[in-house]
Amino acid sequence: MILVTGATGNMGRHLVRHLREAGAAVRAVTRDARKAEGMASERVEIAAGDLTDPEFLERAFIGVRSLFTLLEVGDATAVLEAAGRAGVARVVLVTSLLAQTLPEGFVGQLSLGCEKVMRDRGLAGTVLRPWEFTTNTLAWADEIRAGGVVRKPSAGLPSPAIDPADVAAIAAKALLEDGHIGRTYALTGPAELVPQDKIRALSAVLGRELRFEENGDAEKLEQIRRTPDQVSEGFGVCFMASPGVLPTALEVLGRPPRTYQEWAADNAGRFR
Ligand SMILES: NC(=O)c1ccc[n+]([C@@H]2O[C@H](COP(=O)([O-])OP(=O)(O)OC[C@H]3O[C@@H](n4cnc5c(N)ncnc54)[C@H](OP(=O)(O)O)[C@@H]3O)[C@@H](O)[C@H]2O)c1
Repeated sequence: MILVTGATGNMGRHLVRHLREAGAAVRAVTRDARKAEGMASERVEIAAGDLTDPEFLERAFIGVRSLFTLLEVGDATAVLEAAGRAGVARVVLVTSLLAQTLPEGFVGQLSLGCEKVMRDRGLAGTVLRPWEFTTNTLAWADEIRAGGVVRKPSAGLPSPAIDPADVAAIAAKALLEDGHIGRTYALTGPAELVPQDKIRALSAVLGRELRFEENGDAEKLEQIRRTPDQVSEGFGVCFMASPGVLPTALEVLGRPPRTYQEWAADNAGRFR
């Protein structure tokens, strides 16, 4: 049995599909079973509960051999410790590439801390450190729907955003195939883009003219300067210097990672 936390999320939905297609037995965790509608099948059971509830956490691990988990499912440390107590044989932990590029920041520290818990508890498995997700630009959806001009304090820095569907595909491999245990994968998408590139891609798939503008809001710029790693996702703009395009996703997937343009085409409906 593979326990998938964050099963209704950007990565989790794709991961559950991959595992179901491979015939694996899955327990998919959500706090709200309605969000997992259509996910249950003969080999996929839905476990509805909150991972911050110690009783639910222990129950969720009954009969579990493998775990997929991420930083923001309540307390990731508690989830990993429960995995240790349950004798889980394989873990795929998603942290962040900021563990390498901005290790002193909040997200970098959280990532390194969770990775240490995994090691200290003797949990075998794979760490996935993705760069910014393509899905972060869903933060633009309201402005795109309202008129088509996305205004943010700054356009930030070029970023090789990765489609969380690719992170999920890599997680499925790490859970199902040999050769991934003990590895840490630094994952980016295939090209460094600025917000203007992304807005062009969204314009093309939505068939209407969209614009990205910098509004230079001084207060927000100060917030960005102090805690870039904590505000990037909310603005849908990357404020951290990227590591460039890395080859790992291509090497593990055996195909190029998906482009922002492909993600935009698949997700156009979420901006309409
Ligand atoms: N966004 C980025 O740019 C980025 C970059 C690098 C790494 N990451 C990593 O990716 C992770 C986010 O992954 P994602 O985008 O796939 O996640 P997501 O879409 O935000 O989904 C996370 C899921 O976790 C579930 N959850 C939250 N709190 C929970 C709790 N207390 N108990 C049980 N379930 C809970 C929620 O499901 P329900 O509401 O159904 O319970 C939610 O759907 C981050 O934590 C970080 O580790 C993100």
